[in-house]
Amino acid sequence: MLGLAGLGLAGCGTRARGQQPGMVAPAGDGLGELARARGITFGSAVQAELLGRDPLYAAAVTTEAQLLVPEWEAKWEALQPREGEFDFGPLGGVASFAQAQRKQLRGHALVWHKAMPDWLPPALAEGPARARAVLAAHIDAVLGATQPVIRDWDVVNEVLANPPGSRFTEQTPARGVFRDSPWLRALGPEYIELALRLARQRDPTLRLTINDYGLEGDTPWAEQKRQAMLALVRALLAARCPVDAVGLQAHLQLDEPFRPEPLAGFIQSLRSLGIAVLITELDVREGARLPPGLEARDAAVAAYVQQVVGTALAAGCRTVLTWGLSDRDSWLVQDPDVARRDGQQHRGHPLDAEFRRKAMWQALALSFAGA
Ligand code: G3I
Repeated sequence: MLGLAGLGLAGCGTRARGQQPGMVAPAGDGLGELARARGITFGSAVQAELLGRDPLYAAAVTTEAQLLVPEWEAKWEALQPREGEFDFGPLGGVASFAQAQRKQLRGHALVWHKAMPDWLPPALAEGPARARAVLAAHIDAVLGATQPVIRDWDVVNEVLANPPGSRFTEQTPARGVFRDSPWLRALGPEYIELALRLARQRDPTLRLTINDYGLEGDTPWAEQKRQAMLALVRALLAARCPVDAVGLQAHLQLDEPFRPEPLAGFIQSLRSLGIAVLITELDVREGARLPPGLEARDAAVAAYVQQVVGTALAAGCRTVLTWGLSDRDSWLVQDPDVARRDGQQHRGHPLDAEFRRKAMWQALALSFAGA
């Protein structure tokens, strides 16, 4: 079984490429430190390639993030590109950086309907026995290799369908409340419980999270999805299935109405079931109509973020993770499904494209201070 060596962490003194010998986090008031002072964990998704070749990017991660999430490197496509052939190299780059900088590392995601290597969907379609074996082998190998450095995983990601009327561009075919996917077709909704049980059996000390999006807004479809998530968690707990946390991806949209009460009630309901709640992928898509000027745009993003994050923290959330720190490298710029079509770029991260702190950075700092 791959151990630390599998992650390129064997031996001491391992440093991610691009790290100067003896480099330590610059002193100062990063968001991670401000959050930690209030018992909150702040962090960000990161890309191994940029950590290794972009000192400005690496310095921002060092200064601002206390916890790192591999944006791509811990997904099936990266970890098991061919059946039985595991590649922990890219994940090792993130893990080496985290170790060198004494940062925590979070796993994302053991089961998802995207970032699947080409061989996986046909394998799952061969039948439930094969699908169960493929899933068990992946979870066994990945948790075995990452056990020393990752203590917290998104075990299943985006298992709920987007309710009818959802504003999300992706129209997810639904099978009841569950998103249609190769996993659902191969195993039925039981794949969710199976993945959670396999993860718990492989490593009883992990925090096991169900992660999803579209759970934050004050809309009928967000409320439907919240109720579906609550029903899923209750059913899993009733079946004595291990589940420890729910991740709110919080890919926020300024055009979506927000009121604290629905989100606060949802978080409190989960907390009353003994379930932790994390914000796992915070960023902001600006609305169709942009306010005039960057200052007004950034102020609108900051105000919305402070409302949502402040509400979540007040309701008991203690982990806030952004999906990247800077506007420059965001999927919001690179993914045509969400990128702006007016020649502008979304300004939905704490740092701008030059890694300068924006009003959203202040909004997060104020949210932590007020927690
Ligand atoms: O495929 C190449 C690979 O060959 C290469 O070695 C590697 C080196 O960086 O890059 C790979 O390219 C892309 C990868 O991002 C790394 O940047 C993939 O083609 C591309 O599909 C992948 O996109 C990611 C996407 O998930 C799919 O995995 C985005 O960066 C990432 O922001 C996005 O994140 C998702 C969350 O996991 C779940 N929630 C929604 C969120 C946004 O879609």
